Amino acid sequence: MALALLAGAGPLPADEPKAPAGWKPVASTQSGLLLEPPLDLSWFTTGEFERVSATVGPEKIRKAWTTAVTALPPHSRPEVKGLTEPEVEDYMRQVRRLFDEGAANPVSDVGLISTQEDVIRKPMYNHIAAFSNAVAHVYLLVQKTSGNGGWGYFSIVQDRTTDPPTDYYAEIKGTEIKFEGTSCYKCHSSGPLAIHPVRADLVSDAALAAALNRHIADQPVSRMHFPQDDPPPDYGKPLALEACTECHDRGGDRAPLFKVHAHPIRVLVDYGYMPVKHRLTPEELAELKAWLEAKP
Ligand code: HEC
Ligand code: HEC
Repeated sequence: MALALLAGAGPLPADEPKAPAGWKPVASTQSGLLLEPPLDLSWFTTGEFERVSATVGPEKIRKAWTTAVTALPPHSRPEVKGLTEPEVEDYMRQVRRLFDEGAANPVSDVGLISTQEDVIRKPMYNHIAAFSNAVAHVYLLVQKTSGNGGWGYFSIVQDRTTDPPTDYYAEIKGTEIKFEGTSCYKCHSSGPLAIHPVRADLVSDAALAAALNRHIADQPVSRMHFPQDDPPPDYGKPLALEACTECHDRGGDRAPLFKVHAHPIRVLVDYGYMPVKHRLTPEELAELKAWLEAKP
C-alpha cells in the first residue's frame, strides 16, 4: 500500500481505496538528493484528490477511452515543412477547446516532480491529455495547486515536420498564447515528461497513464523552440555521470542534462526512477551530488 511506504505515515484515512492495479507505489530512497525532506502526504486522501480534480468540470475528466491519444483533423497545408507560430498557437487553442468541450481523454494525477519539491509543498493537481495528427503531437496540461483559485492551461506542440522535431511550450491564457523558454526547459529537458504520480492511488486511470507514457517514450529526441524574447542562456557542461549519459547524451535516447535540470534530477533519482534499472552506487551518488552542488 502506497501510504504505508511513506516515512512517518499515520493511520490510513477512511476513504482510502486500494491503489489501482499496475501502478507501483513510490517512496523516497533517502538518497540525500532532495533539498527538502520528502513531503509527508499521509494526511491527503484519494477522496480529496477526486473532489478537487472534478472542480475543473466533472464531464471533462475520467472518461471511457479506447485510444489514449485523441486524433486531430489533418493539417490544412499538407506539404508543410515547419509550422509557423500562428499554426502552433491554433493547435494550442484547439486542444484547450477540445478539453473544455469534454472531447479529450485526460489522465488526472497529483504529480511527483511538481509536488515533491514545489515551493508551496502542497499537492499539485494535473489533467494531462495528448492529441495528434500527421504533422503535430500536441499535449495539454490543466493544472491547479491546492489553495489558489483557478486552473491553469499549458501546452506543448511537437512539430514533426522538422528534423529533429521542434517543441513549442506555452501557457494558454484565455485565447492568448504566451510562449516560454527556460521556465519550461528546466523540467522538460527532452520534451514531454512521463507521468509519475506522487502516490499510486493519486492517478485517475493507471492504464491510461501507462498508455500515455508509452506514447511519450516513443517520441524522437526533439529540439526546444526558445521564443525570441527568451533565448537559451549558456547552460554550461552537461552531466557526465556514465550511469546517466548511457541514455541522456547527445545522440542518445534522451537529451543531455544540465545544471538547470537539477530539480527533476533530484526528485527522479531520489524516488528511484533514475537510472532505470539499477540504483546508483554510493560513489556515483556522491559524484552526482558534487556536480549538482558545484559552483559554475
Ligand atoms: C517543476 C518542473 C516543471 C516545470 C518548470 C514545467 N513542467 Fe510541465 N510537467 C512537469 C511534469 C513533472 C509533468 C508530468 C506530470 C505528471 O506526472 O502528471 C509535466 C507535464 C506537462 C504537460 C503534459 C505533457 C507531458 O509532458 O506529460 C505539458 C503540456 C506541460 N507540462 C507544459 C509545461 C509548460 C508549457 C511549462 C512552462 C511554462 C512547463 N510545463 C513547466 C514538470 C514541469
Ligand atoms: C536506460 C536509460 C536511462 C538511464 C541510464 C537514465 N535515464 Fe533518465 N530517463 C530515461 C527515460 C526513458 C526517461 C523518460 C521516462 C521517464 O521519465 O520515466 C528519463 C527521464 C529522465 C528525466 C526527466 C527528463 C526527461 O528526459 O524526460 C530526468 C531528469 C532523468 N531521466 C535523469 C536521469 C539521471 C540523473 C540519470 C542517472 C542517474 C538517468 N536519468 C539515467 C532513461 C534513462
